[in-house]
Formats: sequence, structure tokens, C-alpha cells
Amino acid sequence: MSDTVKITRDNGIAVLTLDNPPVNALGHALRAPLFEALGEANADDTVQAIVIACAGRTFIAGADISEFGKPPKEPSLPDLIEKLESIDKPTVAAIHGTALGGGLELALGCHYRIADRSAMIGLPEVNLGLIPGAGGTVRLPRLVGPEAALKMIVSGKPIGMDEAARLGAVDRVAESDLLAEAVAFARDMATSRKPHIHIRARSEKLAIDLAAFDEAVKAVTKKARGLTAPHTAAEAVRNAITMEFDAALDRERELFLERRDSEESAAQRHLFFATREATRVPGIPRETEARKIARAGVIGAGTMGAGIAMALANGGIPVTILEMNEDAIARGLAHIDKTYAGSVKRGSITAEEKEARTGRISGTTHYADLADCDIVIEAVFEDMGVKRQVFTALGGVLKPGAILASNTSYLDVNEIAATTSRPQDVVGLHFFSPAHVMKLLEIVRGEETAPDVIKTALALARKIGKVPVVVGVCNGFVGNRMLAARREQNEDLLLSGATPEQVDRVFTDFGWPMGPFQMVDLAGLDISWKHRQSQGLTAPIGDTLCEAGHFGQKTGRGFYLYEEGSRTPKPDPFVQELIEKKAAELGVERREISADEITERTLYPMINEGAKILEERIAARASDIDVVWVNGYGFPVAKGGPMFWAERFGIKTIVERLEHWHRKTGNRVFEPAPILRQLALTGGGFGDLV
Ligand code: 3HC
Ligand code: NAI
Repeated sequence: MSDTVKITRDNGIAVLTLDNPPVNALGHALRAPLFEALGEANADDTVQAIVIACAGRTFIAGADISEFGKPPKEPSLPDLIEKLESIDKPTVAAIHGTALGGGLELALGCHYRIADRSAMIGLPEVNLGLIPGAGGTVRLPRLVGPEAALKMIVSGKPIGMDEAARLGAVDRVAESDLLAEAVAFARDMATSRKPHIHIRARSEKLAIDLAAFDEAVKAVTKKARGLTAPHTAAEAVRNAITMEFDAALDRERELFLERRDSEESAAQRHLFFATREATRVPGIPRETEARKIARAGVIGAGTMGAGIAMALANGGIPVTILEMNEDAIARGLAHIDKTYAGSVKRGSITAEEKEARTGRISGTTHYADLADCDIVIEAVFEDMGVKRQVFTALGGVLKPGAILASNTSYLDVNEIAATTSRPQDVVGLHFFSPAHVMKLLEIVRGEETAPDVIKTALALARKIGKVPVVVGVCNGFVGNRMLAARREQNEDLLLSGATPEQVDRVFTDFGWPMGPFQMVDLAGLDISWKHRQSQGLTAPIGDTLCEAGHFGQKTGRGFYLYEEGSRTPKPDPFVQELIEKKAAELGVERREISADEITERTLYPMINEGAKILEERIAARASDIDVVWVNGYGFPVAKGGPMFWAERFGIKTIVERLEHWHRKTGNRVFEPAPILRQLALTGGGFGDLV
């Protein structure tokens, strides 16, 4: 008996209950006593069958991720599963909550699996840059067939019990009392004459057409986004078909260890913990209760308002959208309907789901109709005068305790809050476009925002499937402020001799889905032009393109040329001539620009701005900044975010190069932040800062 594994006996059935909160991760503290308990139950002649169950909120959520990178301790997870497979008495896994990764692999080492109706099972290792490393890629194909296993392992998506039962991944779905049913099932198995066959001895499902399997591999790895693990996972599943069981198992282990020690996995594990850490907000006690959100309002049915309304409706929250007139409402609702219709067409939601979601969204032109909303999110024009009017009107109608939120991209949330008599209820909720798709939510904490409002915003984010990061008030918050620092040099690089293709290529080679010029072409050059005008800023090339009506993809021309109906960027001779002309006018001498120079003048200022953001405590920790960039701006997942990447790459080198460019240009974006200088001297990481 140990603290984490208890053995109870129920009339000849040994029940091993694992208890390692919060998610029963298979750390050494669980593996060692479980190994012993299995030995004990197997050696006990009075035990006829063994049930493995878990206490707490879930079955085993996998290997303990925090142990990766530390010296291994025996017994390993494969040792444990081998032990299970050496047992001839019927073994039954009783699954509730989620059986993930090593948790499912352990269950695959049992003869039988019985699960709660609400349970989920999956092998999500690819999300951590890994592949299953304890037999998952070898046993699951034998149980459910190689193609179904491939889909589960390469996507990393868990499945529910309807599908699991259909595939044969579970032997029975419990109707009411999982443990009692598992014990009864184990007893039936112990007394039946049926042979108990381990998965390793089952190969009937492996007889498939390998060419068809290879086609399936191509289809499922299409979404790998430049990551290696999904391809390695597919290779491991293929080995399960073409190799003997033990050889495939050995090869899986090798591939797993290779992945485990990769930079890609270190980055993804960092992001796993960073995402969870981001929900812990300094100064807000864990036990702070969130306010209730049963009904929401959105002001403005434009690009963002419509997207936010859909995000809320997708999370089951009824929404009323307020606009200036009936036409604007009709336009907004029609846009929402069309977007959902597109999702039905693509098969991402059903027609019934579309009906349910659109049914949750209504429109109005009267503030009084928002009176019973628990939260209202404003998404009107980016203009302090308009925002003031809206917040004054909201302050007049909303019930006490209702939350007033703004989706502003740059404006001062404290100034917005000051227009109401309840600044404690005001918060920034900065969604990203398209708001029903993009995961990031910057929660902007004003000087007076109440702790329970932050807590409510975090709970709301979770309910609607967003990844929240709490940030402080400054121009552009975390993401847009760093983006502005990165953007500074774009036009200078062109004037000095680079082409848009060359700059974008450096970004895509780094792993970004697209480069900065492709991005503005997609978003529309007019958007940044308007923003520059509002700030009194100019950009010689961007402004001239806009004056010529070249707004990017939507007009067929921007920094690139797009042929009729195509989204493929082609170099535009007009742009090249314009760059040369502007360089001559401004007296800029053109020269060869290297890929390193492009990186140093775009990525480094962004990291530098991130460090300044940390100094000013706009972000609580460097890992919060990584979460912002990966979830809101397409920073490559495999690199873990700008601050993580900077640490791995070498802060000292970055500071040296920033100093070089600062001396050369005098531009403040290159002036190293004091904490970067400090870390360059001490050799420490952002985590060492207090
Ligand atoms: N190892 C270590 N810690 C883990 C963990 C794991 N596998 N899974 C979750 N945790 C920790 C989280 O960090 C969090 O800690 P915190 O409270 O200190 O922040 C705590 O457990 C609770 O996690 P969540 O906040 O995510 O809780 P939820 O209830 O929202 O979700 C879950 C539960 C669905 C199990 C989710 O935590 C999850 O998806 N976990 C990861 C599952 C996974 O990836 N498993 C595969 C691991 S790799 C593996 O098994 C390799 C093998 O093939 C050899
Ligand atoms: P938009 O121009 O598409 O939509 C604004 C909508 O607000 C229009 O439909 C307009 O009719 C309505 N509106 C204006 N004044 C109103 C009022 N007084 N009452 C009711 N409705 C009113 O603008 P968009 O792009 O949706 O931006 C909205 C806000 O979201 C801005 O603050 C912007 O900075 C922010 N934002 C925009 C992002 C983007 O990518 N477009 C991303 C994140 C934030």
C-alpha cells in the first residue's frame, strides 16, 4: 500500500486505485507503487482478476510531462506495461474523465477497457512535439485498425465513447456506477472460459492495403504546420503494420526519445505549461469567485463585433448585438449567417449546430435591450469619442455588477473606464480577427478593474475556448506593441535594398505561416494606413500604394500582385519601381541585404520590446508573451514563442546585435532594454528575474 496506489479486494477481484492529483499523471510516485501492486495482486492466489481505477477527477492524463528532461527513474512506463502484459489473470482498466497519452497506453496493456459514458480517450503526444512512447503506436492499430489509430495519433484529438465503442477501443460503456460495473465485468471475465488475449497477440486488423494507408498518411499529415512529430507518429504507426510487434515497439521508443530530446518538443512543453501559468494572475487569489455570465451584449456588428458574437454563441452564451441602425444589424446578422453556412459546407459544424448558434444571436438598436446582460463587449470604431459615448450609455442601463468590456486594440482602457461611474467593472477584452477562430484573448486589466472581473474574464475565455493572457494598459498592449516594434524596419529594409519576397522568405523559413508583407496584403493596406493617419505617422511605400488604390489581396495588388481570383503572391514590378524611386528621393543607398540582417532588424526589436513590456510589468512573465505570440500572431509553435526562442538562441548575441543596429541607426527600437543587458551579463534566463 502507498499514498498513491491502494489495493482493495472485493470478493476475489483486486481493485488498484491510483490517486495522484490533480490528473493522476504517471510520475515515478505512481509508477513505482503501481508496479509493486501489480506484482502483489498477481502473486495473490485469492485474486482472480485485477481492476485499475483512478480516484479524483480523471483517469491517468499521461506521463508526467514535468519529468521529461530529468534523469529517468525505474520502473519506466514501458516496464510497467510489460509487467501488465505478463499477467494472465484478466486485467481491466476502469476509465473516467480522460485517459490520455501514457494513461491510454497503460489501459492498452490491460486485457479489457470499460469507461464512463462521458469519458474521452486519446493519444495527444503530438501536441507536445512527441509521439506515444509506451506502445500506443503499436497497440492501438491492433485494437482499432491502422487507419483509425493513425487519425487519432497524428491529430492528437481525443475521441468520445460512441466512437470508441464503435472502433472497439473500449469493451463496454458503463451505464451508471463505473467501478461496480468494472468489478462485475472483471468477475464475469474471470469465470468465463473465454481466453484473455493481450493486444500484442492480436493482429487480424493489421491486414490492410498499405498503399491506401500511405494515402491516408498524406491526408492526415497535411495539417502538420511544419512540425516533425506528426510525421514521426505516422511513421511509427506504419511500423506497426510492417514490423513484428517487439521490433515496432523498440523503434517507437527510439523515435519517442529522439522527439523528447528535440527543441520542438521542449518548445511545445514550454507552451503547455505557459498556457496554464498564464491563468494565474499576480495579486488575484485563486479562490476569488467569478461573476455569473448567462447573457452577453456586443456593441457593433462589424468585423470584430460579429466575430465576438459568434465566439460567445459557440460557447453557448446568448448574445444581443447593438448597432446604430437596422441596416447595420441586418448586414451583421447576414454576415454571421453566411459564416456559419460556410462552416456547415466545410463540415466543421452540422446544420443543427448552425441553427442553435444563430438562434442565440439577436440584434437591437436600443440600449434598454441590454439591461439584463451580465457582460457587454464593445467593438465600435477605434475612436475615443465614440467609445466614450458607448460607455456612458452602457453605464446608464446595465445592472449593478454587469461587466463593461472594450475590444480596443490600442486605446487607454483607464480613460475608457473613467467615463463610467463604475471603473471597477471595466476591462479590456482584446479579441483577434477572425474572433470566432483565433484563440488568443488579451484581458486588459485597468488600474481599477476588480479582481473578480479578471477572474470572470478568465472563466469566460475558458467557456468559449479562448487562450487568455492578462496584460496591463499601454499602447497596443503586449501583441500589437511588439508588432509595432517589428514593423518599424519593414519599409527601411525595402528602401535599403531588400524585396518584399526576400523579407517574407526569411519569415517563412523561420516557420511563420507568412511574412509581414504577405500579412498586410491579406489584412488590407488601408487598415494600417488609417491607423498611421490616426497616429500622425507615414510610410513612404505603404502610403503611396494606398493612394494608388493598391490595398492588397482584396484589390488584386498590394506589396504583391494577385492574378484574378488567386491568393498566390507574385512580385509586382510597380512595387519594385516604387521602392527604387522612393530610395532615390530619400537619398538611401541601396545594397545587398542578408537574411541575418532581416532577422536582426525585425525579430530582435520585437524581443527587445517584449523585455521592456516585462520591465513595465505589462506582462507578468516572459512565458505570457510567448502565449500571446503563438496564439494571436502565428509565431511558430516549434520555436515556443519569442522570449523562449531568445533564451535558447542566446540573449548575449541578441544584445550585441541590437547594440550594433542602435549605433548604426540611432533608432530606439534597437536600444537594448536594461533587463536584456543584465541577462546578457549574467547569462540567466527570463525566469531568473524577480
Ligand atoms: N503531466 C504533468 N502535469 C500535468 C499533466 C501531465 N501529463 N497533465 C496535466 N498536468 C497538470 C497541469 O499542468 C495543471 O497543473 P497546474 O494546476 O499546476 O497548472 C494541472 O495538471 C491541471 O491541468 P489542466 O489545467 O490542464 O486541467 P484540465 O482539467 O483543464 O485538463 C487534461 C485536464 C485534459 C488532462 C489536460 O491537463 C491535458 O490535456 N493534459 C495533458 C495530457 C497529455 O498531453 N498527455 C500526454 C503526456 S505525454 C505521454 O504520455 C508520453 C507517453 O506516450 C510516454
Ligand atoms: P468595423 O468598422 O468593422 O466595425 C465597427 C462597427 O461598429 C460598425 O459596424 C459600426 O456601424 C459600429 N458602430 C460604430 N459606432 C457605433 C455606435 N456608436 N453604436 C453602435 N455601433 C456602432 O471595425 P472592427 O474592425 O470590427 O473594429 C472594432 C474594434 O475592434 C476597434 O476598436 C478595433 O480597434 C478593434 N479591433 C479590431 C481588430 C481587427 O482586426 N479588425 C482586431 C482587434 C481589435
